[in-house]
Amino acid sequence: MQILESVVSDFKAELQTITKTPDLLNLKAKFLGKQGPISEVMKNLKDATVEEKRLIGARANEVKTAIEELFSAKMQEIELQEINEKLSKDKVDISLTDSVLDLGLQAAGFHPVTLVQQEIEDIFISMGFEVLDGPHIEDEFHNFEALNIPATHPARDMQDTFWFADKKHLLRTHTSTIQVRGMLERKPPFRFVGPGKVFRCERTDASHEMVFHQLEGMMVGENISVGNLIYFMKTLLTEIFKKEVEVRLRPGFFPFVEPGFELDIRCLICGGKGCSVCKQVGWVELLPCGMVHPNVLRAGNIDPEKYNGFAFGLGLDRLVMMKYGIDDIRHLHSGDLRFNSQFKSF
Ligand code: DAH
Repeated sequence: MQILESVVSDFKAELQTITKTPDLLNLKAKFLGKQGPISEVMKNLKDATVEEKRLIGARANEVKTAIEELFSAKMQEIELQEINEKLSKDKVDISLTDSVLDLGLQAAGFHPVTLVQQEIEDIFISMGFEVLDGPHIEDEFHNFEALNIPATHPARDMQDTFWFADKKHLLRTHTSTIQVRGMLERKPPFRFVGPGKVFRCERTDASHEMVFHQLEGMMVGENISVGNLIYFMKTLLTEIFKKEVEVRLRPGFFPFVEPGFELDIRCLICGGKGCSVCKQVGWVELLPCGMVHPNVLRAGNIDPEKYNGFAFGLGLDRLVMMKYGIDDIRHLHSGDLRFNSQFKSF
């Protein structure tokens, strides 16, 4: 009985020094295991009277329960502490990715198209636009049909479009495909941009490449006007060039808009005198745009009686050339590091 009386206090005293799970398990084994004081007491009960067995046995059980309770409480405490330690050690440092990226950037630099694309995305995000992505490989529906481009339209000509052998799939010729996907995936009102590579089977020169970049934009809602379109386009160009650029708006035809416009800017390479980029005319076609054609809205499951909107397709490469004073689009895909490494992150 005497031994039993001191067991709990002995256990408590040792418990205080314990901070780790394995030590705690060892301590429990030491007190409750086969070699422990309680087992010893029970072993010696052989020669005791029935009454003594009853009293001591009951007390031994109480002591056991008390130790188990103390053990569980301590176990919880340690587990909690271990979780907290782990949390503070494994903390996700969300600033890390950027700093690692920065190191890479200092060495390599971003491609100028990427830099301009990111800058434009940020401008649109700040105006409440989403940024969408779309596949390079498309079908006729998304590249043509849904955009009100009938089968007889010259844009479907085999010369312009890279078709796959199945004659059903193609490399998208414009990012307007993203309009279709964007409309089908959401309900008005919405506004989004969709940047990406586009592909045309064309002869290359200083201002034409077979692979180039566009940034599509679309805003759909109730009572959207040409005024809204002009406002967004002007804000965009002022932000990009950090100065007022000279622009002109001409009527332009695109099957997916009505009315359609061509927004030109005064050539920033030659200041309007004429060069290879502006094909000697002093103006660069930069931003075809217009009010979304009702047929296009219908193809996107949107009721043209209730909603309307504007769309635009920005030629990213030309914008990059204007911004950095690059006189030949072919530099962009040259893969020449002496070219690429001239551009730093914003
Ligand atoms: N998809 C046209 C092209 O590649 C560009 C374009 C024109 C896009 C007018 C538009 C638009 O969204 O409204 O030539």
